[in-house]
Amino acid sequence: MTPKPFVKGVGAVAAFAAIVLTGMSIRSSPVQADDEVNNDESKIQIGFAIAPVPLNLTGKDRRLVGLGSYIVNGANDCNACHHSGTPPNFEYLPGGNPYFNQRKVVNPATYLGGGQNFGPVGPPPSPDIITRNLTPDKTGHPEGGHTFAEFLQIIRNGKDFDHLHPNCSATRTTNCIPAFTGVDGDLLQIMPWPYYQSMTDHDLLAIYTYLSAIPCIDTIVAGQPQLRNICH
Ligand code: HEC
Repeated sequence: MTPKPFVKGVGAVAAFAAIVLTGMSIRSSPVQADDEVNNDESKIQIGFAIAPVPLNLTGKDRRLVGLGSYIVNGANDCNACHHSGTPPNFEYLPGGNPYFNQRKVVNPATYLGGGQNFGPVGPPPSPDIITRNLTPDKTGHPEGGHTFAEFLQIIRNGKDFDHLHPNCSATRTTNCIPAFTGVDGDLLQIMPWPYYQSMTDHDLLAIYTYLSAIPCIDTIVAGQPQLRNICH
């Protein structure tokens, strides 16, 4: 018996390890990392270019604000549902409605102020499902002063911290969703959280930081006190 085959085996393992390591070092090479950073940088630049309102960057990571704007205004259409405008121009300024073949100008006065009514998701006494005001209040926290930890629960799990449309029960008989519908009244309805929940923590932090950089709007609609916001 000679130890040679064993030594050979070690050599083969070492060579294999070297190949794996080389492969790994190619995958995480600085070129690739630079590409990823640049990719984010172009999103950040576009994000700042397309933000339809002045942004308050004080005390905020500007890269997160820019990326958040890209996600909110470029990759998704949060304002389509969360604006507080009315027909015929909805979220656009008169003369700036792209569907009228006019150059797009988003109305800053109704931007993410909430109030679009999607109607009920069950028979009476189900209340209408109405989009929320996402703008920050005087605390600087977006959408009604929610913390980032709460925001994560809202987007990941659809949790409705405001309990605006609970299921009906012996003690709750008005503005409630009948249990037989199967609808869980503690969950946000219509809001596409089952899609947004797959975003990374980083992207969700970017959205949250952007939503805290936009101007506060106090949306005043009769019968909808939840849209009000304390701006000062
Ligand atoms: C298809 C319409 C629609 C779109 C698009 C949409 N939302 Fe919503 N969102 C809603 C509705 C409706 C509600 C309220 C649901 C309810 O009352 O059950 C809501 C609720 C929310 C809430 C909860 C607010 C609170 O006070 O608890 C947050 C946060 C939110 N949306 C953020 C976003 C963000 C960020 C985007 C874009 C990435 C977005 N939404 C896109 C319809 C939409």
